[in-house]
Amino acid sequence: MNNLHYHDYAVKTLDKTRKNGHKSGVVWLTGLSGSGKSTIANILENKLFELGCQTHILDGDNVRMGLNSDLGFSPDERKENIRRIAEVSNLFAESGTIVITAFISPYTEDRAAAKAISKHQFVEVFVDTPLEVCEERDPKGLYKKARAGIIPEFTGVTAPYEEPGDETLRLNTKFMTADECAEVILEELDMLGLVRKR
Ligand code: ADX
Repeated sequence: MNNLHYHDYAVKTLDKTRKNGHKSGVVWLTGLSGSGKSTIANILENKLFELGCQTHILDGDNVRMGLNSDLGFSPDERKENIRRIAEVSNLFAESGTIVITAFISPYTEDRAAAKAISKHQFVEVFVDTPLEVCEERDPKGLYKKARAGIIPEFTGVTAPYEEPGDETLRLNTKFMTADECAEVILEELDMLGLVRKR
């Protein structure tokens, strides 16, 4: 950090959010693999898009194929994964975008660090789907592989998932459809003054 000087930009985030007609921020979805994070993220993005909002999704599998392709799933590598995503999310928010992230982000400490990195509205959302349900769905066949010992350190099986306690929102997917979950998040964004539902 020595010998670095922060440069102010001529066009500020405030100018960009004014142009967009809404504030920017980060919707941080956390939950087990197969809990429905990506599905909810996509439905939410569609709803925001229909309202004319500037949005972008950052998704675990996709980001791990590019920016974070050098990272595995040890606690330290997950920490670095989340740190980079938090920084990238912050850059997107700085550009006036509402970012929706879909990462397991299993450690409380790493989620807290992500929130601390964010200089914009940060909405933590726990996609609360029980392990049995995720495992039953097993959309990518990964739980089966983890149980067979083929994938080590698999969240929920051989690696921990620390449930959020003070999260902004908890979506109980047993009682709500993915569309209803996205609607609850949209209500929250409306209440926080990020967007205006029509
Ligand atoms: S995180 O724990 O670092 O937040 P992230 O969301 O980026 O994880 O990536 C999770 C995705 O990677 C899962 O949905 C799954 O498709 C894949 N994956 C591969 N190996 C593992 C593993 N050991 N634990 C969890 N997910 C894994």
